[in-house]
Amino acid sequence: MAKQNRRTQSRNKTRSSGKTTRSQKKSAPRPKPRRPLPKKRAVSLAASPLVEARNSAIHGRGVYAIAPIKKGTRVLEYLGERISHGEADSRYEKKGDDDGHTFLFIASNRTVIDAGVDGNDARFINHSCAPNCETVIENSRVFIDAIRNIKPGEELGYDYQLTWESTDDPAELALYACRCGAKKCRGTMLDKEPTDKREVDKKKAKKKAKKR
Ligand SMILES: C[S@@+](CC[C@H](N)C(=O)[O-])C[C@H]1O[C@@H](n2cnc3c(N)ncnc32)[C@H](O)[C@@H]1O
Ligand SMILES: [Zn+2]
Repeated sequence: MAKQNRRTQSRNKTRSSGKTTRSQKKSAPRPKPRRPLPKKRAVSLAASPLVEARNSAIHGRGVYAIAPIKKGTRVLEYLGERISHGEADSRYEKKGDDDGHTFLFIASNRTVIDAGVDGNDARFINHSCAPNCETVIENSRVFIDAIRNIKPGEELGYDYQLTWESTDDPAELALYACRCGAKKCRGTMLDKEPTDKREVDKKKAKKKAKKR
């Protein structure tokens, strides 16, 4: 059996204390708010009165809004057992080749969250190519934030951007076909670019910057 690369959800917005890498959209200057906006606190959001898990037309269980959710709301924290990348690899290799199901989420260079163990409802949020949520990493914790207003009854989704490499077996990659049903569905839950290409591009950009 060929060694299977584990697929992990990753490459999400990363924020560490005080610092933000969230891209700032260019827009006309807005009037200053009278009071500073409250900071999102990194309290545990193991459950939320705004959502419930139930059967989904996309896949298995999904998470649905049961009350209006405003854009910017922090809905849930992605919880589960915190393990090393090595442990995540070995758990994944024990799974069958025909199984594209994953509950793994990369929280940092050191930590992967396995929501298959002690996970909360966040583990049931399906992938969407037209997402209404995004994942935000703060201090190695993963949160799910609404990126637009969500009506009761809507299924929550974010872009998994599953990691893959250009050398991976195409038949194996086909296991990650997307069934989100969005008009512009890209047909896969995999990230747009393979990890190895991104690394090469990063190195090239670094070299270029050094030369300047
Ligand atoms: C974190 S789980 C999401 C919850 C899942 N529906 C369940 O019942 O366990 C991730 C797995 O759900 C499936 N999945 C999620 N979104 C999908 C989509 N848009 N199309 C096809 N399968 C999807 C894939 O098997 C994926 O590995
Ligand atoms: Zn899709």
